Amino acid sequence: MSSRKPYYLTTAITYANSKPHIGHAYEEIATDVLARWKRATGHDVQFVTGSDEHSANVETKAKELGQSPAEYCEHMAGVFQDTWQALGISYDRFIRTSEPVHHAASREMVRRATRSGDVYKGRYEGWYCNSCENYYVETDLKDGQCPVHGIKPVWLSEENYFFKLSRYAPRLLEHIETHPEFIQPESRRKEVMNIIRGGLKDLSISRAGTQWGIPFPDDATHIIYVWFDALINYISALGFPDDMQKFERYWPADVHVIGKDITRFHCIIWPAMLMSAQLPLPRRVFGHGFIYLKGEKISKTKGNVLDPLDMVKAYGLDPFRYVLLAANNFSGDGEFSEEEMVERYNSDLANDMGNLLNRTLTMVEKYCQGRVPAAGSITVAVDEALPAQAARLFPAFQEAMEQLNFSGALSLVWDLVKRANKYIEEAAPWSLAKQGEQDRLNRVMLNLLESLRLVAGYIQAFMPETTPRILAQLGDPDPGRRVSFPAEAEWGRLAVGQAIAKTGPLFPRWEKAAK
Ligand code: ME8
Ligand code: MG
Repeated sequence: MSSRKPYYLTTAITYANSKPHIGHAYEEIATDVLARWKRATGHDVQFVTGSDEHSANVETKAKELGQSPAEYCEHMAGVFQDTWQALGISYDRFIRTSEPVHHAASREMVRRATRSGDVYKGRYEGWYCNSCENYYVETDLKDGQCPVHGIKPVWLSEENYFFKLSRYAPRLLEHIETHPEFIQPESRRKEVMNIIRGGLKDLSISRAGTQWGIPFPDDATHIIYVWFDALINYISALGFPDDMQKFERYWPADVHVIGKDITRFHCIIWPAMLMSAQLPLPRRVFGHGFIYLKGEKISKTKGNVLDPLDMVKAYGLDPFRYVLLAANNFSGDGEFSEEEMVERYNSDLANDMGNLLNRTLTMVEKYCQGRVPAAGSITVAVDEALPAQAARLFPAFQEAMEQLNFSGALSLVWDLVKRANKYIEEAAPWSLAKQGEQDRLNRVMLNLLESLRLVAGYIQAFMPETTPRILAQLGDPDPGRRVSFPAEAEWGRLAVGQAIAKTGPLFPRWEKAAK
């Protein structure tokens, strides 16, 4: 196996009862950006996403369509994979919870919990929301409705198997206290600690009266509770329990990227399950914020949805990926609108970046015979600004990516872009040309070309289709390669004499929203 350091990251697995919306796309794209960056920095990346199939809503939806749940999920897994492909999601493994390896893993985890003395039979009585797949007590409900979905939960009264979650409260608290990085961002960490301090109840982990799910070990009249099963995807995707070699290479996960609404499942239930099974805990769970549309929750019933594929068709893949991540702080809640899409496209992509490339290449054609010039020996103080800023960029960018601060990482790159545009005004290459100062002019043009090369490299994880387009215009002999860091963060790597290849504008301006 590879000697590179393993890095394992995951998204939540999407419920198979509807096609992905922009909130799902946000999580996938962000995680993809991190995966690509980790590959660029030399890691052996394992990026897992998938579909969560054993949900009551999936069964209902299939019935509505006159299909078996299995048939319907097969279709939806295809829809997800096609969507992720169109969004450039470079996952290594797409896990479906209906796969035999996942069934085996889930049953093994129940057996392990049983062996640890954590499973007992009891009676569950209370409310259950089929959309959250979550249990509620009377006082949780808002006017008798699910507090999250605003729909009437169902009353359950059945013999169930329970998991002794309560007993893990002290160990969970201790783990969270001694591993401050375990739950991020900080607001989520506090929230989880408060829940645990408030006391944990044991968790019903089986359901009777339905066939759609994973049979409970030694009692086929029950299936495993869908959340208990779903969380296990993070290890079944690695082959657990059949392929322990792969499992041991990648587990524990470096980060589970999830939305804020499912923090409790990932930071309380999942670690307790792992403790009970005597498996290591993930290193980090990152609960990102939600995307809203005009301040409203994305909701199919209210018709408030935006198909990410429509955005890609209208504005292009890279601009969509860029705006979604640049315009929102991953830790907090965010917004998406076509107005903002067009605005940021024009200001950041067409103006800032597109113009920098275009102006620079035009001048290289005009003043340097269309080739990367050798650095001139004459420099003035202002010529130091770009190399100095570029030298600070790598550690800062690296740190922002480590924090999953994607908008912060992008704004660091755009700071360089803006600095380069300002440098053009300061250095005024046209005056240097007029005055015949070719030596200094070469220095200026080389600084601009180097900055563009760096920008092309840094944006690759975010805008994988744009990097080769920029590198090709800079005359790079292998523009389609994966740019590797920190090697290519170094200043001064452009080959002198390399012929540039200017083409049309990278991002033609939008006059108004596409639709
Ligand atoms: O919760 N903005 O699946 P899911 C940002 N199957 N993220 C959003 C969002 C929004 N508006 N809406 C949803 C499930 N998400 C379970 C997960 S994992 C073992 C099982 C996020 O299809 C959501 O927070 O409802 C979750 O991380 C992911 O999309 C899938 O949501
Ligand atoms: Mg959900």
